[in-house]
Amino acid sequence: MLLEKIYSEHGWDFRNYKRASLKRRIQKRFAALDVRTYPDYCHALDSDPAEYSRLFSTLTIKVSEFFREPEVFDLLSRTLPAKFTRDAGIKAWCCGCAFGEEPYSLAIVFSETLSAEGLKHSKVFATDIDPDALDTARKAVYREDSIRNVTPEVRERYFFKVNGMNKVKYVVRNLVKFGTQDIVKSPSISKVQVLFCRNLFIYFNKTLQEKVFEKLDYSLVPGGVLVLGKAEVLPQRFAAGYSALGGHLSVYEKKA
Ligand SMILES: C[S@@+](CC[C@H](N)C(=O)[O-])C[C@H]1O[C@@H](n2cnc3c(N)ncnc32)[C@H](O)[C@@H]1O
Repeated sequence: MLLEKIYSEHGWDFRNYKRASLKRRIQKRFAALDVRTYPDYCHALDSDPAEYSRLFSTLTIKVSEFFREPEVFDLLSRTLPAKFTRDAGIKAWCCGCAFGEEPYSLAIVFSETLSAEGLKHSKVFATDIDPDALDTARKAVYREDSIRNVTPEVRERYFFKVNGMNKVKYVVRNLVKFGTQDIVKSPSISKVQVLFCRNLFIYFNKTLQEKVFEKLDYSLVPGGVLVLGKAEVLPQRFAAGYSALGGHLSVYEKKA
């Protein structure tokens, strides 16, 4: 009932997200407002429109960090320059990019490995369902714990200090283009060569995983690289179309 209400009033479609995880998160809002039942919570939503945005931000978990799973980025640093023509540039897409840590990490890999000509033709499209998260991402200012995986040399080259925080330099920000997109409802981006979709499928039920994966598969060019989260696997129906690039890592190459 609550999920139907959210969908009909706001168009946010959480109906096929995993129930257990949604329930845990909704309970947090119950506790915050000291309500016990769904009808009471719906009443609270009706009387305070701001509660909708608090609920939305509770339901969309945005835990991330720079170079999350550093081995993935090491692998990409080694393989991307050989896979794609250095000067032609790379079109990448980070779907479910939270506060921007992942697309900026990928843009740093591009800056470190591509030629100046290649960088001119490269872009990391970064999308998320939450427009407020993207506003924060565009500001590109991070606390120390977000950049704990960043080496001192890379910090020196691509970050600078602002009021004790760490801001990403323009040379990296310039490579990333943010946009609001609900991957459940919207069409995907086409002709993508590197596609990150990490720690998003874990919130979807199996039916929704397959539906969304169909969009990702359509996006990726043959020979393109797909990066999923550590706990995520390719849906069975698509597995034959991909080969593993990095052993135990969830990094795949789309077969030609
Ligand atoms: C846990 S974060 C993952 C961040 C990053 N990819 C990582 O692995 O570090 C999941 C992100 O997916 C976003 N998200 C949830 N549902 C979405 C949807 N239907 N379309 C696009 N993004 C969505 C959330 O807002 C959140 O920012």
